[in-house]
Amino acid sequence: MNQIIIFRTIADMRKQVGIWKSKNLSVGLVPTMGGLHEGHIALVEFAKKKCDRVITTIFVNPTQFGADEDLAIYPRSEESDCQVIAGAGGAAVFIPSILEMYPEGFLTTVCVSGLTDKLCGASRPGHFDGVTQVVTKLLNQANADVAFFGEKDWQQLTIIRRLAVDLNIPTSIKGVPTVRDVFGLALSSRNGYLDFKQIEKARLLSSVLSKAAYDIASGSDASFECAKVVKTLLGYGFDRIDYIECRNAHSLELIERADIAECRIFAAVYLGNIRLIDNYSIL
Ligand code: PAF
Repeated sequence: MNQIIIFRTIADMRKQVGIWKSKNLSVGLVPTMGGLHEGHIALVEFAKKKCDRVITTIFVNPTQFGADEDLAIYPRSEESDCQVIAGAGGAAVFIPSILEMYPEGFLTTVCVSGLTDKLCGASRPGHFDGVTQVVTKLLNQANADVAFFGEKDWQQLTIIRRLAVDLNIPTSIKGVPTVRDVFGLALSSRNGYLDFKQIEKARLLSSVLSKAAYDIASGSDASFECAKVVKTLLGYGFDRIDYIECRNAHSLELIERADIAECRIFAAVYLGNIRLIDNYSIL
């Protein structure tokens, strides 16, 4: 297995990135919060195909969790995560402490207005401000050529693309297709909280959502299809539906018919108090 370098400080990471760049090696960045699963492995492998050296970051960012969210129980598995990253071809892992990321006196926030107040932003106020704050820092710290983010978190990816353009961050932002289990369930660290019965139900989400995407693409009314998805999922025993919505893939504005622009169907649903998200392209 690949020998992996562990950086605990920004200075060490920057020094190594400087060495790689002086040898004309391209550098990829895969930001994560750890608790790595097949979806993350796919991100690292994808990054490795595009870049000579891949740095994975592991930082459970407190500023993106709401007061009632799962920060304290978020899975932490540093040692096995490093092994997984090495196995996937990663060259290095950046594991900063909270103080390295947010030193005494830290005051700066980054807010991408408009894109952040809908979908997950509407039910998780402040969440995306935490994401944009930490991602801006990670992009500046690593100075990678390309940073890779999963398309499962499509809204997050869209917001990060915007901030990189708006703030003239030279790293290019690349979306990586969602990794699913054989039943279509999008892989997520939160799936680990589901019991066997909940997993069986969770697996129904992707088939219901992809069928609606197909019907909308074939001309069916978007609001009608979204309402049908809500009814079907509640009928299957999902405990709560946060949203099922069709939106433009880039502006995230609501759409009515699929033929007006590239669009996607987005879902956030609950099984018990576990919140699952997913999305599919409509065109
Ligand atoms: O998607 C995630 O895991 C996180 O939101 C990210 C991008 C690593 C920022 O903490």
